[in-house]
Amino acid sequence: MARFLLVLLCFIALLGSSLGSSHANGRGEQSLAQINIYETSLALDSSVHIHASPQTLGSQGEDTEWVNVAISNPKPSSDDWVGVFSPAKFDSSACWQTDGKEKAPFICSSPIKYMYPNSVPDYTKTGNVILKFQIINQRADISFALFSGGLWSPKLVGVSNTVAFANPKAPVYPRLALGKNWDEMTVTWTSGYNINEAIPFIEWSAKGLASRRSPAGTITFSRNSMCDVMFGNPARSVGWRDPGFIHTAFLKELWPNREYIYRLGHDLVNGSTIWSKNYTFVSSPYPGQDSLQQVIIFGDMGKGERDGSNEYNDYQPGSLKTTDQIIKDLKNIDIVFHIGDITYSNGYISQWDQFTAQVQPIASTVPYMIASGNHERDWPDTGSFYGGKDSGGECGVPAETMFYFPAENRAKFWYSADYGMFRFCVADTEHDWREGTEQYKFIERCLASVDRKTQPWLIFIAHRVLGYSTNDWYGQEGTFEEPMGRESLQKLWQKYKVDLAFYGHVHNYERTCPIYEDHYSGTFQGTIHVVVGGAGAHLSPFSSLQPKWSLVRDYDFGFVKLTASNHSSLLFEYKKSNNGQVHDSFTISRDYRDVLACAHDSCEPTTSAA
Ligand SMILES: *[C@@H]1O[C@H](CO)[C@@H](O)[C@H](O)[C@H]1NC(C)=O
Ligand SMILES: *[C@@H]1O[C@H](CO)[C@@H](O)[C@H](O)[C@H]1NC(C)=O
Ligand SMILES: *[C@@H]1O[C@H](CO)[C@@H](O)[C@H](O)[C@H]1NC(C)=O
Ligand SMILES: [Fe+2]
Repeated sequence: MARFLLVLLCFIALLGSSLGSSHANGRGEQSLAQINIYETSLALDSSVHIHASPQTLGSQGEDTEWVNVAISNPKPSSDDWVGVFSPAKFDSSACWQTDGKEKAPFICSSPIKYMYPNSVPDYTKTGNVILKFQIINQRADISFALFSGGLWSPKLVGVSNTVAFANPKAPVYPRLALGKNWDEMTVTWTSGYNINEAIPFIEWSAKGLASRRSPAGTITFSRNSMCDVMFGNPARSVGWRDPGFIHTAFLKELWPNREYIYRLGHDLVNGSTIWSKNYTFVSSPYPGQDSLQQVIIFGDMGKGERDGSNEYNDYQPGSLKTTDQIIKDLKNIDIVFHIGDITYSNGYISQWDQFTAQVQPIASTVPYMIASGNHERDWPDTGSFYGGKDSGGECGVPAETMFYFPAENRAKFWYSADYGMFRFCVADTEHDWREGTEQYKFIERCLASVDRKTQPWLIFIAHRVLGYSTNDWYGQEGTFEEPMGRESLQKLWQKYKVDLAFYGHVHNYERTCPIYEDHYSGTFQGTIHVVVGGAGAHLSPFSSLQPKWSLVRDYDFGFVKLTASNHSSLLFEYKKSNNGQVHDSFTISRDYRDVLACAHDSCEPTTSAA
């Protein structure tokens, strides 16, 4: 280690002198001496040329642009790679020790993403290539760096000119969520403006009514709010990136089912105003209102890169397919539930920007409701129910900050949401749910407090499979559920006649019969349990055992759509992400009296006494 450091110091010293001359050949002001890389050495080669264009992005107000990166490398090799760095001067002043579990490339300030020039034919012959990167506005300038030596012992051979968005601080990626009341919509977005620089707000109006402004709050989080580094974690070390400022405004006293137009605004101290483009949404129906209501539910979607780049934790091959199918059907969708394992950023904080940019067409138009999963929350000794390291050190902080959800306490990710004829009770499997806990009390209150005559469709949601799944890894444990999953909760589902329970975490699709304590029969027979965790992440195989209650299984990417036509008809559809085709469907048809009728273990004590 000591020797390696010494060698690196020598490189840096050499670089200092070569930098002076690099001004002349147009490679500009790259502060390469700041690069400090665990396993990376500097091998700058003045015969390597990298040019990125256009230099100014988003000059028409776009928040996403394609950038051409022209490379000319006299010594091309098949394992060369190009990293996208932002800020452009990839500074390593805060380089931390890790436990060696991070995936290559091991660079202190991680590239946002990277691509192999070899993906374009003839690169290894000619050394000339033009790579196309899709770049989003992430509040800082950008550079492209060419490395030889593969991912495991990268050598930096060249860096491009800097490109930047016209306004890097612009307000971007609005996401809607239901507020705490049915007539409230919240808008959350990201910008580079802190409150001392500009006042954030939403300007909005119903079509045909006067527009008004609602103030927005501003929050953020710092490197120190990531979990302790003692176990080695990307969130506080190599994966850290400034998340900017997160603003949320509450649009209140909305009319039911009305179209609204809105835009994000920041009043600068010098009196001018920065505007986003205009967006629209349709406000929620009144609870109990009889009208068409269409709900999308899925888990574990993650993100993908449309330009074919690689990134850290890049294992959600179905993500873009699911996103695109939902965008295609968006005019027939009213609300979306993404039930945990949201970005799989796993400590690489820049990926929250990538994710919010990817879902922007959806989340800016319909409420995007999230639940918390292991990849948002889990970290040892931080109060998560599981001591795993799946959050990469985020321990819930980015998820709780980047998205609004109507929880009482955003560190405890459970909440209820009313949407017309639906009541959703969203649990947080990364905190204890067993009988006697605070969360158990919440779940019972949520299930018990809904009037089924007006809101007949009662839905339970949780990330891990608290109900039933014949997934392979549960099978190996000799079980069909998350350990301790349903033991506490199934009497609540039965007592309160939950229609459907949805889970993610297991990356496939499975639907059960109405089931209660392993048997099924009767009028309200039991809850139908659905695993819908196949929205993006690599698929999970099923166990070879398939009990009778497991009705339909699909090892593929997909999501669920619920369509409530009225108080007595609910259509359930499972659609494939590849083509949007319905692969499994059924209808629940019933009168509300059927819900109120007593079923096994759901009966109140009665008396015939006069
Ligand atoms: C206010 O500041 C912004 C950003 O610095 C600038 O673009 C704008 O022209 C200024 N407006 C006025 C009225 O000076
Ligand atoms: C957005 O809507 C506002 C208010 O209706 C309007 O003044 C503005 O010109 C619109 N902006 C764009 C870019 O269409
Ligand atoms: C409810 O909707 C279903 C499906 O569209 C329809 O067949 C049924 O007639 C409707 N029932 C009532 C009472 O409107
Ligand atoms: Fe999960």
